[in-house]
Amino acid sequence: MTKKSLRTWLAICTAALTISCTPATTEQKPTIELDKNLDSLKSAVACAHPEAARIGAEILSKGGNAVDAASAIQWALAVCYPEAGNLGGGGFMVIRNQDGTSATLDFREKAPALSAADMYLDSLGQPVEDMSLTTHQSSGVPGSVRGIYEAHARYGKLPMEQLIDPAIVLARNGFALTEKQANNLNAHANEFSLRNTAPVAFVRDGRTWQPGDTLKQPELATTLERIRDNGPNEFYTGHTASLLVEEMQKGSGIISADDLKAYHTVWRDPITFEFEGYKIISMPPPSSGGVALAQITGMYTDCMHEPLSHNSADYIHAMVEIQRRVYADRAFYLGDPDFVDVPIEALTTDLYLRRRMDNFNWYASTPSAEVSHGEFAFIQESPETTHLSVVDAEGNAVSVTTTLNDNYGSKIVVRGAGFLLNNEMDDFSVKPGTPNMFGLVGGTANAIAPGKRMLSSMTPVIVEKDDKLFLVAGSPGGSTIITSVLQTIMNTAHFDMSLTDATAAPKFHSQWLPDVIFMEEGRFESATIETLEALGHNIQFVPSLGRVDAILVTPSGTLEAVGDPRGDNHAAGIR
Ligand code: DON
Repeated sequence: MTKKSLRTWLAICTAALTISCTPATTEQKPTIELDKNLDSLKSAVACAHPEAARIGAEILSKGGNAVDAASAIQWALAVCYPEAGNLGGGGFMVIRNQDGTSATLDFREKAPALSAADMYLDSLGQPVEDMSLTTHQSSGVPGSVRGIYEAHARYGKLPMEQLIDPAIVLARNGFALTEKQANNLNAHANEFSLRNTAPVAFVRDGRTWQPGDTLKQPELATTLERIRDNGPNEFYTGHTASLLVEEMQKGSGIISADDLKAYHTVWRDPITFEFEGYKIISMPPPSSGGVALAQITGMYTDCMHEPLSHNSADYIHAMVEIQRRVYADRAFYLGDPDFVDVPIEALTTDLYLRRRMDNFNWYASTPSAEVSHGEFAFIQESPETTHLSVVDAEGNAVSVTTTLNDNYGSKIVVRGAGFLLNNEMDDFSVKPGTPNMFGLVGGTANAIAPGKRMLSSMTPVIVEKDDKLFLVAGSPGGSTIITSVLQTIMNTAHFDMSLTDATAAPKFHSQWLPDVIFMEEGRFESATIETLEALGHNIQFVPSLGRVDAILVTPSGTLEAVGDPRGDNHAAGIR
């Protein structure tokens, strides 16, 4: 046995023992708790899949800190949550250290050098349907691998090998598909087959996937081993980079070896603001999340003169009117700050926010601006970005949202490397006024340009109360991410709910265009709906909104951790 294969074998044995919960040694190891909701924890994780949650908590139990656990979870999600966990995508990380210092890491994808503002338009200047979503050209240069290494280099404690090995085991030995995952893979089998030139692990030969079936990804396991052994350059300049470029050439893709080599992450100053005595720490542009949360909470404070009850018609009406204005600003002003001047300060001053609400009317809705937009189909497949929250025993907190954009990204697998490519280019404004897959419109601030990062709604947050950690949260859901995270903050900080109740509470969403309130079906009082309709609001019911993974510090100082009941999300931790 070579040194490398011995190491892999040992890792497999260790993980197998861990999963069956048999102590590997006589040494006392903390018990890992794993469930949808957990309380009284000293350290905790919450994420989209139970296997990844267990792996994160294992790392905490072995003395890893929050960044170590977040790294291990990201590697694991790339295997056991291929819907959104990824090597071929990107994301954002917000970190708050136990001493109160904070930082954010931008590992969002970048437009390739050969991209252009009109790359998805035909000769008549019209968008080519689905080109920014389903083709090799829909991918931005991936940032996840560089991002995981960058955060770990600055904050990690345990060696990266130890953090990546559990994911290798998951990929090599396989994991049991949940019912949701089996259905989701079956629903996309045709797209996988059509868009790939070779068989992919996600399509079952001869029959459909059943819950409990084992999904093995040997090519992905080998890619992860190469990354473990060679470091991040393996992905950006090594054999994996060559495989990605070869895959591009199979389908007129434009990501080149130079694009991969040039990819870099950016440490950005967090956007921070106060709301009712809480301090919210979130992601600045190219995320629109932090700015939008600052604007929404600021406008809410301005126009609220008496307390409103949770999810009452008045509360929803006020929030929808606020969100209409905020999403209109998003479409016009926000983009990659390395390319356009984003007037964050001006957009978040009290005076500006008050002025924006001048024409707010408690007794009628304001119709959204007359901007024409194309057909909008609200995405009701499972929302496939993914968020993970971690708090370690020292109180360091990490909030990471990462994505391939759509369910399984472009559904194109890099041949020979086994990982999925993102279709993040659709987050750019393909043409002013033309909505993207989330119905979001944009202008020149978010136009495509080589090397530019596409505007995002991903909103990882960390909230402080009295200078102490209070909440770590985030969600998938495209444009609905901002309002899902907002409602988690409102429900815990403003309405004083437990995290379990806050996460389970019915959600609504609005975003200026389309001029609609999306509401979770069957979850709101009919009187509330009738009142909103009488105020002039258009309502559309949707099965669910957001899947929040969050951790709350309770008044006793222990942690409550929750995986959203809407998905397979789980919490894990140590008491
Ligand atoms: O960055 C963004 O805003 C989107 N690419 C997120 C995609 C997402 O949440 C997928 N869910 N439907």
